Amino acid sequence: MEPTLRLRGIISNLRGEGGFAFLAKARELKENGKPVVNLSIGQPDVPTPDPVIEEAVKALSEDKFTGYTETPGIPEIRKAIAEYLNERYGADVSWEEVVVTPGTKGAIFLALSAYLDYGDEIIVPEPSYPAYPEGTKILGGKPVYVPLEWRGPSKGFGLDLEKIEETITSRTKFIVVNNPQNPTGALFSPKELEELTEIARRHGVMILADEIYDNFVYDDAEFESLISMPGWREWLVYTNGFSKTFSMTGWRLGYVVVRREVARLLSKIAVSVWGCPVSFGQKAAVRALRDPDVWKWVEKLSKRYGEMRQVLYEELSKTPGVEAYLSRGAYYLFPRIKQVEEETGLSTEEIVNYIVNNYYLIILPGGVFPDKAGKDFIRFSFATNRKAVSEGGKRFRQAITSLLENKTRK
Ligand SMILES: Cc1ncc(COP(=O)(O)O)c(C=O)c1O
Repeated sequence: MEPTLRLRGIISNLRGEGGFAFLAKARELKENGKPVVNLSIGQPDVPTPDPVIEEAVKALSEDKFTGYTETPGIPEIRKAIAEYLNERYGADVSWEEVVVTPGTKGAIFLALSAYLDYGDEIIVPEPSYPAYPEGTKILGGKPVYVPLEWRGPSKGFGLDLEKIEETITSRTKFIVVNNPQNPTGALFSPKELEELTEIARRHGVMILADEIYDNFVYDDAEFESLISMPGWREWLVYTNGFSKTFSMTGWRLGYVVVRREVARLLSKIAVSVWGCPVSFGQKAAVRALRDPDVWKWVEKLSKRYGEMRQVLYEELSKTPGVEAYLSRGAYYLFPRIKQVEEETGLSTEEIVNYIVNNYYLIILPGGVFPDKAGKDFIRFSFATNRKAVSEGGKRFRQAITSLLENKTRK
């Protein structure tokens, strides 16, 4: 075999991020003039707020802030992040414990690369955002999945603490906690989080927290940040970022918070991989964190998405054979369609393909979120406008009704 084809074995086992294939499909349908409604995208429907953009433009055109920066980020952004977490969550983070990264994905990968030896395990509650298991596999580690508990349409998903504890082995390094959770929209209760941290402590394993959706919590539900917990330095590697809160997905800015001596070591990895985060974007991110007008914008956006969630939920609840749970965080609904599958004999993927190709509604089959527990579910994003969610919900209802009717006629 030619040497350029001799890749590491693990590379052929990567699943990538299934959602991206559907974006390509949406583009293709649009190019063919189809009236596409896209509820598959995990990013806000509005651009970054103006003051943040203005700050980046100023950093570029006036300050000519175009060179490399310190590897963990300029002190201003590290201080702004520490202040934000401390004020918001009553945490006691020092700015030297913050490492700024290219996106939260960068933060996750950096954390994994610092701790995983070949064959080490991470426990991934599933269905999961793919970056944790995929990053682990790239590094030669092993994702071990534990299904979230489906507690029915009124309660949604929760952590299966018993199963998580049973799954810990001598190779376990991390338990992943994404809260609020993508793709289920679950918000884990302070009680279950406290119990989970107890388990982690008892077994000497770490928690890898991803709280990227912390500004999208609805119905005044109680959100507890793991960074606010006493003694976090012993067992927590915390990640978050700017993509979702400030609609900055394309800026690639995230961060890790970890005890000081480890933060220093993370910079030793990062300096050889990406060198530093984007320079002018860091200045803009400081503005995002510190400008009260930007925070008003965030609040308004979150409130609007809370309303869109309700609009979509009502449509889904009226759909026969569909069990919809009113999510409490992030910007996803993740209804279960098992009954539709049973009645039609179709799989979730077949149902989604039928909807995409005939109703031009782009949604994601739960199976694209590793590993298997999402298989009878569909993910809808409501990070969009009223017209889209209400039209999308209607098309879904029509599609499912038509599938069920055709079945009955046969
Ligand atoms: C749970 C979760 N973590 C991390 C990310 C990636 O964020 P970033 O754009 O900051 O890399 C996403 C994006 O969809 C996400 O849903």
